[in-house]
Amino acid sequence: MASYLKGLVQQLGSEQAGILNEVKELTQNIDHIKEIVAMQQSYGRVAGVMEAQSLPALVEDALRMHASALVSDRVRVVRQLDAIPDVVTDKHKVLQILVNLISNAKNALSSSTATERLLTVGARMKGSDIVVVSVADNGIGIEPENMTRIFTHGFTTAAGGAWLRPAQRAPGRPGTGGHPACAQ
Ligand SMILES: Nc1ncnc2c1ncn2[C@@H]1O[C@H](COP(=O)(O)OP(=O)(O)OP(=O)(O)O)[C@@H](O)[C@H]1O
Ligand SMILES: [Mg+2]
Repeated sequence: MASYLKGLVQQLGSEQAGILNEVKELTQNIDHIKEIVAMQQSYGRVAGVMEAQSLPALVEDALRMHASALVSDRVRVVRQLDAIPDVVTDKHKVLQILVNLISNAKNALSSSTATERLLTVGARMKGSDIVVVSVADNGIGIEPENMTRIFTHGFTTAAGGAWLRPAQRAPGRPGTGGHPACAQ
């Protein structure tokens, strides 16, 4: 009887620890959702306003919005963010573009069989007055025949609509599924 009770106490103890762990993870997820909602509300308020912005900070915000999906898809994020001067822009629009480019990369990576899924985000100066922001991945790539079609309004290989076109794509190395994607 004593050993039965001891076993029961142990089992209850480990179950309780498991539940506590789940509660902790849930709380973290809720905090994460709260952060995203607060961030999106702050972006909503400033739509249409031209202000000096840090592009590396906007890239970080866009990455944060995809953070949990990138973690669950085991995507390694490589940052090549130079210290660059702030640019005067509408951060709401820039964020929309970045969120779409990262989402495209995430989709291309989630169907990829690459041993290591890589998402490389960069920001650098080109000359004295151009800032280049890039989002590259080693996902399934783009079929050569689609390289120009992706700029056509409404073109998509995914179910659902398309609203933002990638602005410009740099030629990539030849890959198995097409060209690795890099949008700038
Ligand atoms: N990183 C990428 N790797 C492979 N294909 C890509 C990549 N980025 C874009 N594409 C291709 O370009 C298409 C158009 O992209 P776009 O962002 O305009 O629309 P979408 O992602 O399909 O839809 P939405 O952005 O509305 O969710 C995609 O459907 C996909 O075929
Ligand atoms: Mg997209």
